[in-house]
Amino acid sequence: MKIGVVGCGNISGIYLRNIGGVFHNIEIAGVCDLIREKAETQAAAYGGLRIYRDMYEIFDDPDVDIVLNITRPNDHYGVTKEALLHGKHVYSEKPLATTFEDGRELFELARAKGLTLGGAPDTFMGAGIQTVRKLIDDGEIGFIVGASAHMLGRGPEGWHPDPEFFYKKGGGPMLDMGPYYVTCLVNLLGRATDVTSFGRISFPERVIGSEPHRGEKIEVEVETFSTGAIRFASGAVASLTVSFDTYANQPSYIEIFGEKGTVLVPDPNCFDGVVRLFKPGQGWTDVPLVPGFTQNSRALGLSEMASAMEEGRLHRANSMQQLHVLEIMTAFSKSSYANAPVRITSPFERQPAVDPDRICGQY
Ligand SMILES: NC(=O)c1ccc[n+]([C@@H]2O[C@H](COP(=O)([O-])OP(=O)(O)OC[C@H]3O[C@@H](n4cnc5c(N)ncnc54)[C@H](O)[C@@H]3O)[C@@H](O)[C@H]2O)c1
Repeated sequence: MKIGVVGCGNISGIYLRNIGGVFHNIEIAGVCDLIREKAETQAAAYGGLRIYRDMYEIFDDPDVDIVLNITRPNDHYGVTKEALLHGKHVYSEKPLATTFEDGRELFELARAKGLTLGGAPDTFMGAGIQTVRKLIDDGEIGFIVGASAHMLGRGPEGWHPDPEFFYKKGGGPMLDMGPYYVTCLVNLLGRATDVTSFGRISFPERVIGSEPHRGEKIEVEVETFSTGAIRFASGAVASLTVSFDTYANQPSYIEIFGEKGTVLVPDPNCFDGVVRLFKPGQGWTDVPLVPGFTQNSRALGLSEMASAMEEGRLHRANSMQQLHVLEIMTAFSKSSYANAPVRITSPFERQPAVDPDRICGQY
């Protein structure tokens, strides 16, 4: 299937490399960017790709099967909505949108028009998290009691060339990094039913430490330290803390506590990593990864979506999952501001584990 790419920023390189390079059932039709030079740079770097005037030229091209929306979070809703209205299937970077209401509108629009919608993250489809998935599905740790997850850092303004959006509405650590963690949790633990959380803005003003905006100040609009709990339909309870306000922490990402043992889940922002299992009487052991994708395989979810469309089945990185994850993430700040638990209403069903031999790509 042919992919029309909207956005030629930081993340575009890995998609342009992997589409057609690693994954053989998808190829690039062409690219566009609001800043023409960015499109020109990427088009030249990846083999002389076609440059579209703007996203509407992509939407009007009958050769384009799927629009890849790799703009910034605040632009996802507008670009995805226009693409759907023009009758295109869409795969979007995370998050689906920046409010649950906007995400639900996109989900319903795609459904009403009979179009396929999906998107990042697809790291949960990599060998690291799929290994944990197999341990859980095989009953290695029995039923899941709960989980603990955290993504802690000091924020991106020290290195990112244009970091303001991370601190404005639609930004913050939850919408930026939360998709990796919450997507991983729902893939392992299933549908969530409730969220309760507290958050704060520890530093109302941030100073940019990177060029070209060094020294400029950012007024913070979103919670930058947020800690809460997610309850799952299974009865399991997970704690999740995300932060742009903290310095050092120990590098443990997600721990799953089961009836018969504990599993350490690797970094959900990566496709590989180390999986460790604790069983009483046996202590900690490293678990060999299942066969699968271990490199930076962004576009894995897009490739699998293209296969699923051809086979007439639901894909893994689907919009039901994206919407459920968005509802959980936005419930954190809703709960914090309302000082009350928030009920999660969107449906969610875990899709089968990934069979890497059925993906049209090399792992
Ligand atoms: N940068 C990373 O390391 C990284 C990693 C994983 C995921 N992501 C996600 O990827 C997405 C993009 O991030 P990025 O860092 O590449 O951002 P970026 O700002 O570097 O690039 C986004 C590009 O989209 C273009 N754009 C916006 N609206 C457009 C439109 N209507 N038509 C054409 N072009 C348009 C912008 O001009 C810009 O060049 C975000 O959702 C982010 O969360 C980024």
